[in-house]
Amino acid sequence: MSVATAASAAYIVAALLFILALAGLSRHQTARVGNLFGMAGMAVALAATVVLAIDDGLSTGHVVLLLAAMAVGSGIGLHRARVVEMTGMPELIALLHSFVGLAAVLVGWNGYFDVEHDPSGAEALSLRMRDLAGIHSAEVFIGVFIGAVTFTGSVVAFLKLSARIRSSPLVLPGKNAINLGALGVFAVLTVWFVISPALWLLVLVTVVALALGLHLVASIGGGDMPVVVSMLNSYSGWAAAASGFLLENDLLIITGALVGSSGAYLSYVMCKAMNRSFLSVIAGGFGIEAPAAAAADLGEHRETDAAATAELLADADSVIIAPGYGMAVAQAQHGVAELTRRLRSRGTEVRFAIHPVAGRLPGHMNVLLAEAKVPYDIVLELDEINGDFTGTSVVLVIGANDTVNPAAAEDPASPIAGMPVLHVWAADQVVVFKRSMASGYAGVPNPLFHRDNTSMLFGDAKQRVEDILRELASLAPRVRS
Ligand code: TAP
Repeated sequence: MSVATAASAAYIVAALLFILALAGLSRHQTARVGNLFGMAGMAVALAATVVLAIDDGLSTGHVVLLLAAMAVGSGIGLHRARVVEMTGMPELIALLHSFVGLAAVLVGWNGYFDVEHDPSGAEALSLRMRDLAGIHSAEVFIGVFIGAVTFTGSVVAFLKLSARIRSSPLVLPGKNAINLGALGVFAVLTVWFVISPALWLLVLVTVVALALGLHLVASIGGGDMPVVVSMLNSYSGWAAAASGFLLENDLLIITGALVGSSGAYLSYVMCKAMNRSFLSVIAGGFGIEAPAAAAADLGEHRETDAAATAELLADADSVIIAPGYGMAVAQAQHGVAELTRRLRSRGTEVRFAIHPVAGRLPGHMNVLLAEAKVPYDIVLELDEINGDFTGTSVVLVIGANDTVNPAAAEDPASPIAGMPVLHVWAADQVVVFKRSMASGYAGVPNPLFHRDNTSMLFGDAKQRVEDILRELASLAPRVRS
């Protein structure tokens, strides 16, 4: 068997492992195995690619360079993965997407210099003999375009998610016309480049695509950022697939298509969950206006303390916990899990209400609660539990804000209007754990904090939960009538 045949077989194995990885990642019970499949697939793919390159006549010097680059890349990747906080995952993912975009741009440019710029080169001649020169030019152009959009889009997403720039949407006059105009320019330039490939056209499309990526993501507001991350994930997949065509690497095409289509589907699912138009979000917030100025005075708010909250919980028949990003920041999940065990041992019904975009990445809350060994069967999705808040004795909102904001359901002028939220305010009593009256990620004031049945428990969520646990321990066991 030739090395090329063995490499093709290895690529098929790797592709299957990637498909198994995606299947595994679809449920948290199997996510760990899914990750193992993905790691095995990547190891097989890398080994086959290196062996194939050596067999293609790579010089020893180049092999050493290749291995050195792999060692440096793996070292940085391992280090980042070990030190990254769960709350920093989305920005890390955005940054990694930007690398995929940049790689696609470099592969495209390299393809141009190998073929279009060097018509006497061996590769150019072989393509011309096979009558494929035009297709190659289209691959170069499309690959560079998608890669450059992904690159700047991901960098802006990284800056927004890590709060290095403001997350509010940029609203330029005629922003939809800008986006559509850029797509039109791209279509015209592609035809031009295929007919007569020239360096200045490639430079122009790179600049247009870099600007478009920047504008697309800058135009999307804080509340819609979850969709942006999965959308950039999808773009990075298409950028990788475009590189696969140029490099004639089947595995890169398959993997790119898997990432591209699963990212697009995830974006669609998240748009549905947030009641947003898929097309409007991928077109850079098409139709979304600038958020209204912050509402003036929402009235008084009431404060409570750990002792009073412990008493409230001790008397409650049913409790629903709505966790959010603040629980992740405070790392309060273990305390929350302990509180759940204590309350359940006192005979109180305890359930969790999980909003699809609570936290900063899909499934963020589920991962934290699973880590703290909260039983899966009491962790419910928004649709499953939203009707149950009425009649619930106490709701604990632990570091959630946008996902429990009644303005989304009641104020059509709110920037998050129409986004489904947890109807926590329908419970008898609501206790909100947070450090201040500050608004959430979307920057929208929250009238929940001023409702008559809401009390604010200020401070770090982990410390407050520990305080409540201490207070509960000093209360007498519950005597049920
Ligand atoms: P957010 O609206 O982000 O609010 C979190 C709240 O936690 C803040 O108001 C903050 O108030 C509080 N907090 C922070 N640190 C805390 C601590 N140590 N102890 C106690 N409280 C703390 O949370 P959410 O309800 O989970 O909503 C998620 C938001 O992020 C949505 O707008 C969503 O669209 C967006 N987003 C989601 C994703 C995904 S995929 N899930 C990705 C990107 C963006 P204080 O500062 O006053 O403490």
